[in-house]
Parts: sequence; C-alpha cells; structure tokens
Amino acid sequence: MDYLRNCWLPAVWSKDLRSKPVPIQVLDTRLVVFRNQDGQAVVMEDRCPHRGVALSDGYAIDGGIMCAYHGWRFDGKGTCVKIPSLLPEEPLPDFRVPCYPTCEQEGTVWFTFSLGAKMPDLPAWRHLNATYASTMIEIEGNYIHLMENLVDNPHAGFIHAGLIRGEPTQRVQAEITETPSQIRIQTIGEKHNDSLLFKLLGKRGEEVNHIEEYLGPNQMVSTYEQRGYFAGVQSFIVPISEHRTRWFFRTFLKFGPMTALVFPIYRRVVHRILSQDAAVVKKVDEQDQLWPGRRTHSTRSDTPSVMVARAARSYAKDGPRTDFTEHTRIISYML
Ligand code: FES
Ligand SMILES: [Fe+2]
Repeated sequence: MDYLRNCWLPAVWSKDLRSKPVPIQVLDTRLVVFRNQDGQAVVMEDRCPHRGVALSDGYAIDGGIMCAYHGWRFDGKGTCVKIPSLLPEEPLPDFRVPCYPTCEQEGTVWFTFSLGAKMPDLPAWRHLNATYASTMIEIEGNYIHLMENLVDNPHAGFIHAGLIRGEPTQRVQAEITETPSQIRIQTIGEKHNDSLLFKLLGKRGEEVNHIEEYLGPNQMVSTYEQRGYFAGVQSFIVPISEHRTRWFFRTFLKFGPMTALVFPIYRRVVHRILSQDAAVVKKVDEQDQLWPGRRTHSTRSDTPSVMVARAARSYAKDGPRTDFTEHTRIISYML
C-alpha cells in the first residue's frame, strides 16, 4: 500500500469538519483533522509528544489544538506554542507534531503523506452539476476486495436481488480497456429489468449504457445512462489498515425535471445496495483470513474483478505501470 502514501487521499468531507477535532486512521497511521485560525484544514499525527495521548481527545483552540492531558498547545503547523506548567522565564522547548499537506476542494479535505517537492495531482469529483450526496462509511474488509466488488456485475442479482438486478437472464458483452493506470468496462446489451432501480430510472425494453471505471490507485466510478439521463456512484477507497477501509462516495443523478423528486428515493436505494456490498466484502475478508492461502477460482464473467484487483495491487506497490501498452478485450457472459 506504500504508493498510496504519495497520493492525495480524502480525509473528511468539509461539512463534517466543524469545531471539534476529528480523529481518522489512514494506512495504519492515526491522524487528527481540525481547522487553523484561517479556517484551513490541518492534518497532523494524532499523538501528543508529551505522553503520547491522542490530540483528538483535546480541543481545537485559537487555530491550534490543545492536548486534554496537561494542556500543551500546538499551532496549525504542529509547533508547540504553550506548556502551561513551564515557569514564565523558562524558554519553550522545540517540540513538534508532524503535519501533512492538505487541500480543500469541492467539499472534500484532501491530504497526502507525501512531503516531496513534487506534489501529486489532485483527483476530481465528476458530475458536480448533477444532484449528488456525499457519504463516508467505514467497512471491515480489505480495500481491494471492495474495489473488485464494485466491478463485479454478476453478484448484483443475488446480493442486491430485486434492487438492481435479478438472476442472470441476459447475454451481455463487456468491452474492457486497460491502460497503465485505468480500466474501463463498458457493459453492452443490458436491457431494462424489473428491479426497483431500473423501474425508478429506466425505460422498459431499452438498453442501458453501463460503464465502470477503475482509476488507479483507489478511485472507482460507476455510471448508468439511458436517454441522456444518468445515475451513478464515484468512490475513493482508502485503507485504514489491512482489514479496514474508509469508503468515500458520491451518489449522483441527472434525471431532468424529476431529479429533485426522485433523488431521495434513488439515494436510499443506492445506500442500501452499497451497505450490502460492504457486508459481503466483510465476509469475503473474514473467509480469506479463515482459509489463508486457499485459491479462489474465476470464470470469464469475473474478468473485470480479477483485472482490477491485479492492477490495484500493482499500483499500490509501484504506481502506474510503465512497461504496458493499452489493450482492449471483449468478453460475453450472462447477466
Ligand atoms: S500528554 Fe499531552 S500534554 Fe501531556
Ligand atoms: Fe454490489
């Protein structure tokens, strides 16, 4: 997972960063997020250098943070600015808490562990002119299991039965294009079905244009389009640790004049679906740990999941591949 440390990762939604410091854990590191005196987001290690207490147990105060144990204070750059028990004539020691670069954009506080001269590119949210809702959930499971789940169409008729698909009845194709840093999967030939989401948003008998994208190292976008309207989910998936994951996602919808009416229902159904995904990813992860080293077996319809898992593992280790030429393949399966 080392390469992820070089990338911008979402820390919190802007709307969730108010007066209280927010503790987060990312890539096995505990961090605290708060706002400095200029309102800018600060991400620093969640550990007081005095006795190691979590700074997130303390208070955001005067643009800095005060530890709850002995009241030491640190400014927004992590510099210790006050030790209440020092005599007035005693100089302040040079104690610091490591801080990381942050950037707040489009309702998201991003940060990176990278302290290098060259900053990584900031990822972008799509469809900001659509109606959308921002959510973060923590799941028990490895982040790559979640990403492979998000391009795994055949599970939808079982885990999400009735909500988005039913048992496979349609022969479809998937056109899969892989570049050094992305995988795009376009499902061709999927017709309207009788599930709740298709009834809500689709038109009977018409084909749905469904595209899934993996954008390395940890971004997924799923879009369904019909008659110029579209619905979907964009996710940034951040490991907390090997077996826990933070899932930031935006559910978006463009449905003409009916958007405002339909969006609350659409959002609830999508949240139900994504909770089901989170639950099954947890089970997959538990089974992995119960049966260490045991192989899993795949068929052609698993190709997108297998490709995304492989690309994500490689990306997390080495970043985008250089010895790689873009290629496209088409597979058929029942959906
Ligand atoms: S542990 Fe933080 S001030 Fe003592
Ligand atoms: Fe799913």
